[in-house]
Amino acid sequence: MDKFIIEGRYALSGEVSISGAKNAVLPIMAASLLWPDRYVLHNVPCLHDTLTMARLMEIIGARVVFEHNRMEIDTTTCNNPEAPYEMVKTMRASFYVLGPLAGRFGRCRVSLPGGCNWGPRPVDLHLMAMKTLGADITLDGGYIIAKGRLKGGAINFDTSSVGATGNALMAAVLAEGETVLTNAAREPEITGLARFLQKMGARIDGIGTTTLHVTGQKELHGTEEEIIPDRIEAATFLIAGAMAGDKVKINGAREDHLTALLGNLEAAGVVLKRSDEVIEVSRPSTLQPVDMTTAPYPGYPTDLQAQWIAFMTQAEGSSVVRDEIYLDRFAHVPELARLGARIRLEGNTATVEGPTELIGAPVMSTDIRASASLVLAALVARGTSEISRVYHLDRGYETIEKKFAGLGARIERVAEDYLVQKG
Ligand code: EPU
Repeated sequence: MDKFIIEGRYALSGEVSISGAKNAVLPIMAASLLWPDRYVLHNVPCLHDTLTMARLMEIIGARVVFEHNRMEIDTTTCNNPEAPYEMVKTMRASFYVLGPLAGRFGRCRVSLPGGCNWGPRPVDLHLMAMKTLGADITLDGGYIIAKGRLKGGAINFDTSSVGATGNALMAAVLAEGETVLTNAAREPEITGLARFLQKMGARIDGIGTTTLHVTGQKELHGTEEEIIPDRIEAATFLIAGAMAGDKVKINGAREDHLTALLGNLEAAGVVLKRSDEVIEVSRPSTLQPVDMTTAPYPGYPTDLQAQWIAFMTQAEGSSVVRDEIYLDRFAHVPELARLGARIRLEGNTATVEGPTELIGAPVMSTDIRASASLVLAALVARGTSEISRVYHLDRGYETIEKKFAGLGARIERVAEDYLVQKG
């Protein structure tokens, strides 16, 4: 296990390039399981999660070659439609193989993910979708067993779910007949998946809206795809620039994917210079408090809630940050408090009192985005912070310490000492 040592209060300047989106590439990799052929993906971020998904696909029988952000997948040799507990427990997104395996093989065995650091995270909507498509679903020894050839159906999600929409969409493209998904998620990662499926030969109408019409096909084929830039990574660097930046240029920041964040940054007094997929940001002399509530896309993402709280510790006044997607996703709050942040937490609502002079301290990562908020806070804190368990960051941010160091931050990765590991 590694930790980061960050010495705060060095202004950030220069350029940073955003990597491909983790949450876009994971379902696309799973989608390649639908049809035996060869697939080439470009701009694939080298992350723990992409390596875990590659390993899972190898267990299923695929061949994966991953070099220099290019991934070649051969799914002609797949013969084991199963996702073992050992893989799914380390990465929930492994559950994405359920739809494609059920669609291709008419049978599969996929471990149920357990809870996660911030609560239960059920998969009932995924299972509802599979049942609507005619799969016989049973639970055996912690595994979901799906059996039966799929047939089109009408799937309505009572809650917008990225993962359930992705799974249902992948399952529907080979199902016989028409499928209609209503109240479907329309995050850019789902739109990206739908476009990839179209390139594979799927027929999908309504892409980018909450109603998707799928006409089942008898055959698909291999294809090539460029993964979209990671909007959550871009947003994390935008917030870093707004907190500590002296002209930070972010390459690969797609305005159309970042509308809610950009509006909130401007409301906080941040001046953004926008041009084609490049946004320049600096810290203004004063920051205004801005309340924020998470919502499905195009609303403000839950994956940026922790970073917004870190940001608001620097605003002149109090702000209210509410998470309506994950009511318990606040493990970063007590860690930020160790740096001096003044945050009152009631249910799913955090009230942040700013401005606070943060002071470096040892803190602990608890999940990907919570860890990102600790890095942001440490960058503006007086003195040195140590962030332990940065493997959480390695799941979702490609070489984040190198990117921040390239902007002038004093950040170093060191191996955590033996005693800390034992504790
Ligand atoms: N939900 C249900 N039942 C389900 C599925 C979801 O009630 O069967 C609820 C969830 O409990 C939550 C809401 O629906 O309240 C939305 O969850 P969603 O299914 O959209 O989340 P997910 O697909 O499991 C993805 C991202 C998460 C991100 C969420 C929300 C991937 C691999 N993961 O998860 O990303 O927070 O959407 O936008 O795409 C991250 O990258 O750090 C991360 C956690």
